[in-house]
Amino acid sequence: MKEQKSLNNMSKNDLHHSCSYAGRYMTEPIPKYTLPEDSLPSDLAYRLIHDEISIDGRPGQNLATFCTTWMEPEADKLIVEGIHYNLADEDEYPHVIEIQERCVNMLANLFHAPSTEHGGAIGTATIGSSEAMMLAGLALKFNWRDRRLKKEKPVDKPNLVMGNNVQICWKKFARYFDVEPKYLPLEPGRYVITPEQIAEAVDENTIGVCAVLGSTFTGEFEAVKEIGEALTKVNDEKGWDIPIHVDGASGAMVAPFLYPELEWDFQVPLVRSINVSGHKYGLCYPGIGWVIFRNKEALPEDLIFHVNYLGGDMPTFNLNFSRPASGVLSQYYNFLHLGHEGFTNIMRGLKANSDFIREEIIKMGEFDILSDDHSLPLVAWACKHNRPFTAFDLSDKLRERGWIVPAYTMPKNAEKIACMRAVVREGMSRDLAENLVRDIRWALEILNKLKPRNAAEYIYLENLQLEKNTGIC
Ligand SMILES: Cc1ncc(COP(=O)(O)O)c(C=O)c1O
Repeated sequence: MKEQKSLNNMSKNDLHHSCSYAGRYMTEPIPKYTLPEDSLPSDLAYRLIHDEISIDGRPGQNLATFCTTWMEPEADKLIVEGIHYNLADEDEYPHVIEIQERCVNMLANLFHAPSTEHGGAIGTATIGSSEAMMLAGLALKFNWRDRRLKKEKPVDKPNLVMGNNVQICWKKFARYFDVEPKYLPLEPGRYVITPEQIAEAVDENTIGVCAVLGSTFTGEFEAVKEIGEALTKVNDEKGWDIPIHVDGASGAMVAPFLYPELEWDFQVPLVRSINVSGHKYGLCYPGIGWVIFRNKEALPEDLIFHVNYLGGDMPTFNLNFSRPASGVLSQYYNFLHLGHEGFTNIMRGLKANSDFIREEIIKMGEFDILSDDHSLPLVAWACKHNRPFTAFDLSDKLRERGWIVPAYTMPKNAEKIACMRAVVREGMSRDLAENLVRDIRWALEILNKLKPRNAAEYIYLENLQLEKNTGIC
């Protein structure tokens, strides 16, 4: 969200691109916030923009994001080729739509959707997991409303049960779509929700439970199978039909390859829908996500619109309409090119690198590890108590060497814990991981020479960060 600037308060320099190329290309300042009166040569417009973004963080050293920062040149080619195909124009681009359908099928099979149950799985490409989970959340809400109306019960107080560790998209969903969020508390040392908490929190107005496969905060997987068992008991006792949605933004493309024995997907009977970000461990650039519904019953007909103004009958159930086909094409490219074998090899490589970083961080003796080693390929840690520096100091120091390793406070009830997280993605080689470890040791050497802080000062500083920090979501 960006606000309109008050141009009156801005200096001439802020308002214009100055003659940065010493008169070779431009002799007059070019306005930044008002549409320029005159045209610019294309190469100059390109160069101004290219140069401006080139000073942002280096993608290879950005360990904050889960999103892909490198793809193969063949994928880049397909992305450019697909950019002008509009995914909304189903009638005009049937082959692109067919490719989307193949991806949905591949994911449904990967997630063990039973093909014979109520017409089999159904799904769509989305812009990311946020759009995907909004569609799934709406399906939960509509299905709950229909069940209640059939029993002539009120439908004015829907709620959704989830942990305090959910990503911001869930908070948005609750507010945008008028659903009461029932956040279950975490505590220092426990950063995922438990089946017992869920069994206690649900009621007749619960539209569903969200279980996260790969917490944004620590990468941990919530115990979907055990949550399913606890919820089945409650459903049976009370005569309810509360389903589970799995937020597999990151984990849904990790678990099938690293932990094939883990039951977290449609093998758990109460799991009705799953979202996954193609642009995270689906190994595509930002702009692609997926939502897969267990079967046609899980997606209420009310969410599907039929339009005919692009020719033919076109069922649509996305929040966005027009969007480029590039994400779908690049996802299909990864599926075809890598296959099960390729994804498995890559995920094992990422895990080996995150295990290496984890071991080295443990050896430093300065940190408590917060992530577990049976989840996403990342390492999350907190500084041990009474160090002369905080996680925020270390994060700042690492910036000097180009590393973006975020520091953030854990969610409510565990907010006294300040955490750092290094996400291992495909661009991180073992060499880079070794460099990171070396630079953390370098930073520690300097930070440890700081005057030891007394406890009161330490608490003051942490609280200051708590006030400033809005978390990573
Ligand atoms: C667990 C989880 N859910 C949802 C999202 C939102 O995903 P997207 O950025 O694809 O909209 C994220 C993003 O980091 C996430 O970690």
